[in-house]
Amino acid sequence: MTEIPEHLLKRSRERRAAIGKGGDEGDNAPAAGESAQTPAPSAATPATQPAAAPPAGPPPRTVAPEPAAPPPPQPDPPYVVAAKRRKRIPFWAMATLSLMPIWAFIYVRSVTDTPEVAEGPLGLGEEIYSNCASCHGGDGGGGVGYAFSGGEVLLSYPQIEDQIRYVYYGTEGYNATGVEVPGNPDRPGGPHVTGALGVMPAFGGQLTPYQIIGVVCHERYTLGGADPTSEEFADEFATWCSEDSPVFEAVQSGTYDYTNESLGEMADFDITPVGPVPIEGSP
Ligand code: HEC
Repeated sequence: MTEIPEHLLKRSRERRAAIGKGGDEGDNAPAAGESAQTPAPSAATPATQPAAAPPAGPPPRTVAPEPAAPPPPQPDPPYVVAAKRRKRIPFWAMATLSLMPIWAFIYVRSVTDTPEVAEGPLGLGEEIYSNCASCHGGDGGGGVGYAFSGGEVLLSYPQIEDQIRYVYYGTEGYNATGVEVPGNPDRPGGPHVTGALGVMPAFGGQLTPYQIIGVVCHERYTLGGADPTSEEFADEFATWCSEDSPVFEAVQSGTYDYTNESLGEMADFDITPVGPVPIEGSP
């Protein structure tokens, strides 16, 4: 048993007296009797004894925050427990995972970009043709200018050199030199006389020689329907329009060295396979 301090006992007695309890205790009567007395000492004590302060001190402590404690001990809900127990993604895996979108992008491209893109003269020619489509039609069906499709352009230009030359010099180039038939003089229904339909712009200064070769290949093989495997066009295709066309390659790299028998001396030029001036076309 520990000793209960006197002042605590006294306070207990006072409390009991205050709530009218403690009839069972013998000292309660005296306590009640004292109660008349106690105020006096307590009134006196402030002056003489600061011991009155302790009784005042403890009460606040009885209002300690303990009652507020009960709420906290709530257990974590199951999903929180599960979340805490779950394994985290290792930090090194984050780098890998962050690349997933890029992989997805590469994968989708590799799957969707399979349609083969033509290389060489035909691939280039298809791009360059955007300069021609407004007058000749996107599919070469014609418009302001002649049609290329359905073999039309092949009837006009059996020789690819003549067609390249015409695109290079245009209507004005031919008119200036008095050459009237740039292509096939024996064309069914009569030759295409330069200037008869309108003005075909000269592309010599606007496009490079190899771009002109490319777009002419596009007009003949892709739009005009020439068959690169046919006896008629196999040689031409291999020389001018195939992926490893030696002429296209030479012109593109600036090492072109081509001699056109019919030009004789004049064949000594270095700009394009077309020659330094417009000349009459061949059947
Ligand atoms: C501004 C309109 C216009 C544009 C752009 C144009 N052409 Fe023409 N093209 C014509 C006209 C008009 C003719 C007929 C010219 C004539 O009567 O002398 C023609 C004729 C031709 C011919 C001769 C066809 C034949 O059957 O006789 C060829 C080949 C040709 N163009 C190729 C091209 C190419 C290649 C391009 C693009 C690099 C091009 N054209 C862009 C208007 C155009």
